[in-house]
Amino acid sequence: MSKILVTGGCGYIGGHTIVDLIQNGFDVICVDDLSRGSIKMLQGIEKIVGRPIKNYKVDLCNLDDTEAIFLENPDLVGVIHFAAFKSVPESVREPLMYFKNNLNSLINILQCAEDFDVDNFVFSSSCAVYGNPSELPVSENAPFAEPESPYARTKQMGEGICRDFTTFHKDFNTILLRYFNPVGAHPSGLIGEFQDMTENLVPVITKTAIGKRKEMSVFGNDYPTRDGSCVRDYVHVCDIAHAHTRALQYIIEDRNKSNCEVFNLGTGTGVTVLELIDAFERVSGQKLNYKIDKRRPGDVVGVYANNNKACAMLGWEPKYSLDEMMATAWNWEEAYAASKPEKVAG
Ligand code: WQD
Repeated sequence: MSKILVTGGCGYIGGHTIVDLIQNGFDVICVDDLSRGSIKMLQGIEKIVGRPIKNYKVDLCNLDDTEAIFLENPDLVGVIHFAAFKSVPESVREPLMYFKNNLNSLINILQCAEDFDVDNFVFSSSCAVYGNPSELPVSENAPFAEPESPYARTKQMGEGICRDFTTFHKDFNTILLRYFNPVGAHPSGLIGEFQDMTENLVPVITKTAIGKRKEMSVFGNDYPTRDGSCVRDYVHVCDIAHAHTRALQYIIEDRNKSNCEVFNLGTGTGVTVLELIDAFERVSGQKLNYKIDKRRPGDVVGVYANNNKACAMLGWEPKYSLDEMMATAWNWEEAYAASKPEKVAG
């Protein structure tokens, strides 16, 4: 079995990807310093796949500690690099923290991949690199607009670092995957978004619906969109996970056309915030308590994918509907709440 190192594997997308990799015949080790990821993710993965997963609790900004992982695993065939901070509003508040963490970890992992000849590399990028795209749906060859947040800038810079690195390492194969908005959870209800403080829309919705939050805000309904709220391309996290398996197979089997290729991972359908809230209320039967608030700094008006390239080249096809995204997100929130009985007051 080809052994893959997944960085950030105790995080939301990384954890779901480990499940998909194992279920498709890969051997996986994980590195996650648990600063954002949760060890509960690993426990859930192990229940789903029925085998233990090794995690190295290492900060990838420490090169020596990162190298030690490669020294201990000389049979590594590839790396999928998820480990990064990913909140748009947090990056607006803490830009230097984002540049230090997201860029230093990438540089160190590439340094190790070079030193230890691990030449299949998948980089976790984001539709945020497009900024406010001039045309929609957005294709991979669309020019980068000025990023709307420091988070988005770290992804633009990260892609540039990967491109420059592969220019001088012809035997090194890189895939850049630009996620749109990953949502939902594994149908088993054993893994999902474990971060309690996440500011992303869908976890905020489910935490409001289950009573962990009193209410939530819709950040702006005065945008130039069909109902005034922002448009995003919501895609199930299990579909995103499977795209990573497909991308690794694509480069390991030498089907890639160049040694640095980029793919959009979205459904190709734009959905507004208010439409998504309607879908959630319909699927869950819960009435959501929300108020219309002012716009959030760093938000783009609308972005959704042209996903033809990933479908044609990787043989990827997003399978989950918006209703299934909402249903699995709600199923996860209820399962997670049941596993963590509220502390008794007093
Ligand atoms: C979506 C929409 C908010 C919270 C995410 C990830 C980023 C990247 C791109 C993968 C926006 C609105 C939100 C709330 C709201 N993905 N909203 N009330 O900012 O598009 O970025 O996708 O790499 O990592 O963070 O996602 O879920 O924060 O916001 O109205 O309480 O929902 O204004 O329009 P975003 P999000």
